[in-house]
Amino acid sequence: MDHFEYRDGMMHVEQVPMAEIAAAVGTPVYVYSTATLVRHVTVFREALGALTDPLIAFAVKANPNAAVLATLAKLGLGADVVSGGELLRALAAGIPADRVVFSGVGKTEAEMRLALERDIFQFNLESEPEAEMLNAVAVAMGKVARVAYRINPDVDAGTHAKISTGKSENKFGIPYDRALSAYDRAAQLPGLDVRGVAVHIGSQLTDLAPLEAAFVKMGRLIEALGDQGHAIRTADLGGGLGVPYDPALPVPPSPAAYGEMVTRVTRGWNVRLMFEPGRVIVGNAGALLSRVIRVKQGATQPFVIVDAAMNDLLRPSLYDAWHDIRAVKPNGKSTTANVVGPVCESGDTFATDRAMDHVKADDLVAFMTAGAYGATMANTYNSRALTPEVLVSGSQWAIVRPRPPIEALIEGDIIPDWVR
Ligand code: LLP
Repeated sequence: MDHFEYRDGMMHVEQVPMAEIAAAVGTPVYVYSTATLVRHVTVFREALGALTDPLIAFAVKANPNAAVLATLAKLGLGADVVSGGELLRALAAGIPADRVVFSGVGKTEAEMRLALERDIFQFNLESEPEAEMLNAVAVAMGKVARVAYRINPDVDAGTHAKISTGKSENKFGIPYDRALSAYDRAAQLPGLDVRGVAVHIGSQLTDLAPLEAAFVKMGRLIEALGDQGHAIRTADLGGGLGVPYDPALPVPPSPAAYGEMVTRVTRGWNVRLMFEPGRVIVGNAGALLSRVIRVKQGATQPFVIVDAAMNDLLRPSLYDAWHDIRAVKPNGKSTTANVVGPVCESGDTFATDRAMDHVKADDLVAFMTAGAYGATMANTYNSRALTPEVLVSGSQWAIVRPRPPIEALIEGDIIPDWVR
């Protein structure tokens, strides 16, 4: 459920007409709804209500905007970070270090040092050499790092190949079969407090079965580790729960169904459970608002050319992702069209053969479910400015990231004297 609704023939976000934001900020612009964020956090937390003190660490990569993070911080969420940059962002937004978990296959020494200085809750290690490096850094600093190993359970998450992470051929985690020896070795390292297991098999999962299969394997591992003398106190079950993008497809499992499954599978584990939801918290809380530049008749179909492009919302071009595209002020007619951006690549296509609201030049359209992996993946390809972001709460709204002047992009380049 979200708070983008039509009132008086116009899409509103909470109490604010989308056209008001477009007029004031220009397009394209990302628009986020606070009420939707609050609702999703509440629903996710309630779904885990049967668990004792779970740590819900928002996957910052899904939406690292400071105002979004501060909103989630106020609601008591922690952060799952994958870089020193994300760590600093999360802390700056008010997320306490003791709710931060650091994931990722390529943590550098400098990032480890930073995270140890800030005394984060836990590192999720993804390889044995990483454990050795973190140990060395911690010992040199006179500290002990709390760690879990991320396990690759070799489970097919059944999602897009580019966002599957739990198959043995993926770069993530250590193979399940090597876990016992890896824990034995790590337990001997004085700079590590080996206390947890972690797993994350992929994103936009629309079936609970692979998640359950992975969690069952983790349960067995926790038992085997216990038998071998390792006291496992945390189990991080990652993120991955899908959200509805295409109303024609079955709705993905609800947080309640997910929570019920987790509660059932983890009974008796005797650990603190941790979660790293990203998309399910922010996905439906955001839309990308764009204006139609013109409509051009192609050989077979109209091309609706909008002022947003693949640099603003990369998902369709990168993962063939489907985003609902709605007229902000529908005229009651519908059409079948291709929706494209101005970037000079055929991949700059948001929708092909799409049955949608009829729109004409100057009309506003909204790309729905763009709150996760939207602005955060934007770039400046074709020398387009980064997309601004707006946060709405009730009848108030604020620019939470302005559109940078294009001059800033150009001024950033340096022409050495010897070129001039
Ligand atoms: N934890 C770890 C270790 C992750 O790698 C991810 C996502 C998450 C949690 C959060 O997963 P979520 O709950 O959001 O599914 N850019 C892609 C998605 C990449 C996901 C990367 N890892 C997209 O736009 O679909």
